[in-house]
Amino acid sequence: MKIIPGMSAQTLAARIAVELDCKVSSCEFKRFPDGELYTRVLDDIKDEALTIVQSIRTDSDLVCLLQLIDAVEEASETNLDIVIPYLGYARQDKKFEPGEAISARAIARSICAVGVIDTIYVINVHNRDVLRYFNADTDTKELNAAPLIGDYIAKREIPSVVVIGPDGGATELAKAVAAPRGFDYDVLEKMRISSEEVKIKLPKKLSLSVEGKNVVIVDDIISTGGTISEAASMLRAQGANDIYVACVHGVFVQNAISRMQNAGVKEIIATDTIESEFSKISVAKMVADELKFRSSK
Ligand code: R5P
Repeated sequence: MKIIPGMSAQTLAARIAVELDCKVSSCEFKRFPDGELYTRVLDDIKDEALTIVQSIRTDSDLVCLLQLIDAVEEASETNLDIVIPYLGYARQDKKFEPGEAISARAIARSICAVGVIDTIYVINVHNRDVLRYFNADTDTKELNAAPLIGDYIAKREIPSVVVIGPDGGATELAKAVAAPRGFDYDVLEKMRISSEEVKIKLPKKLSLSVEGKNVVIVDDIISTGGTISEAASMLRAQGANDIYVACVHGVFVQNAISRMQNAGVKEIIATDTIESEFSKISVAKMVADELKFRSSK
């Protein structure tokens, strides 16, 4: 098997290859003077089972993925899998207003239109229903990084720790992080005002008190940091002690980091589905184990 590293997932692709004890193909990425992306797979990949690893955080990342599928499509007569650690656009999963594009569907269709893909792996996709937008002949599998976050929190041995999700959508994640480790957990209520502004309130029945507790707020994605900042301020007002945040996908746009720190967040923890200085948890072994498991079947 050979790993084809996309532009946005170079480090993670290399880590997955180490776990699998397989090679990473050399690729060339450059921009033409007009800004168009040029992508070339430099290795001989004939007769190799291939796995492309590429997160879609930006429009360019999508173009890069489409180009990589196209570049290897003819060479790979054995097996082509794609790992999309962060599947962006998954939050636009339906028409909220008439005339809107269902972006998740457009992206899924375009990926499947370029080549024949055996399996597409994603990690904690915002809404797993969007996986149905991929071609029916392509297998899809969602991997769950929650246990890795739970393990990381447990290893840190933070005293009196409770896990809080900032909204109802984070219930499953909060439970999967907290329950196996015996941490208490609950979720807050969120109302979105705009793409940058949210209002968070305490639910009528918060099952646990955060007073004097160290809190880990968990969310699948942190983008502007608006959700986390509001949640952190609310939890501090409730007497929480240290506030940590842990997310699967650290998108961190605009002033997300300072915004969260100004709201009293002590530490930011993310996985390496999007590489940043906050990527303290690697999903590489989880992905490699799944690829090994599939190839052994
Ligand atoms: C939305 O429901 C997601 O789970 C996140 O809560 C959201 O994407 C975070 O965005 P932001 O950091 O911009 O508040």
